[in-house]
Amino acid sequence: MDVLGVELIAADDAGAPRRLAVSEGNQMRLLLIGAPGAGKGTQAERLAERFGITHISSGDLLRQHVKDRTSIGRMVTSYLDHGDLVPDGVVMDMLRKPVVAAAEAGGYVLDGFPRTVEQARASFPTAHALGVEVQAAVHLDVARADLKRRLLARRRGSEDTEAVIERRLQVYLDKTVPLLEYYADREWMFTVDGAQPPDAVYADIVACLEGWWTSLRGPGQASRASGR
Ligand code: AP5
Ligand code: MG
Repeated sequence: MDVLGVELIAADDAGAPRRLAVSEGNQMRLLLIGAPGAGKGTQAERLAERFGITHISSGDLLRQHVKDRTSIGRMVTSYLDHGDLVPDGVVMDMLRKPVVAAAEAGGYVLDGFPRTVEQARASFPTAHALGVEVQAAVHLDVARADLKRRLLARRRGSEDTEAVIERRLQVYLDKTVPLLEYYADREWMFTVDGAQPPDAVYADIVACLEGWWTSLRGPGQASRASGR
């Protein structure tokens, strides 16, 4: 487990490093990995509330940019509409500030980033230098047929048409499954059966995180993972 030092480093608006008055014990920085429709957003929201951390969804932020017609939004619209991944630089630049701000505020649950080995490799040195890298990752495992059924039932605009869903699922197989293989066997990587009802998925994630947090801090320090 890559454990951070007690003092964390962040960048100010000018990009200069500065010390953060955030202690390691007050931080929880999580990553949810899963296929389109696996329940990342659903679970991230609940985990954020339970642990008092910030939910950051790369997809939600990108969709907001499209809605607000920002320069990023104009750049990414056609990627989202086709189910393709947005260029790494765009996503990483967009996430840097919110991730550092969330870490300063007590931690985050990041949903949708990194979703390729390249993104994980490219973002780690910066995140590590800033003291904001992910501490634990949860993979929500759901079968393809269930994913398709969920997304077709949801119909979130142009992204949830049958052709685009197929494309998103293929991109997941090609680009994100290798990330799971890259993270496999790390002691901070957990896989949960995401095909269960949402409450059961949530209970399994919390149980994993409680075990992880306790092993990291010792039995007397489990209050954060218990949500107390
Ligand atoms: P993103 O927004 O991340 O979409 P996604 O990965 O395709 O996943 P979804 O948000 O559709 O599903 P989810 O896993 O959050 O599930 P949810 O909880 O909503 O990305 C969108 C696009 O942005 C990408 O295609 C790409 O273009 C771009 N992008 C984003 N990040 C990027 C990155 N890092 N790099 C490059 N490009 C990037 O649940 C889905 C449905 O299932 C809901 O209706 C929900 O109610 C239901 N449901 C949830 N859990 C359960 C359950 N346990 N049982 C039954 N139903 C359930
Ligand atoms: Mg989502």
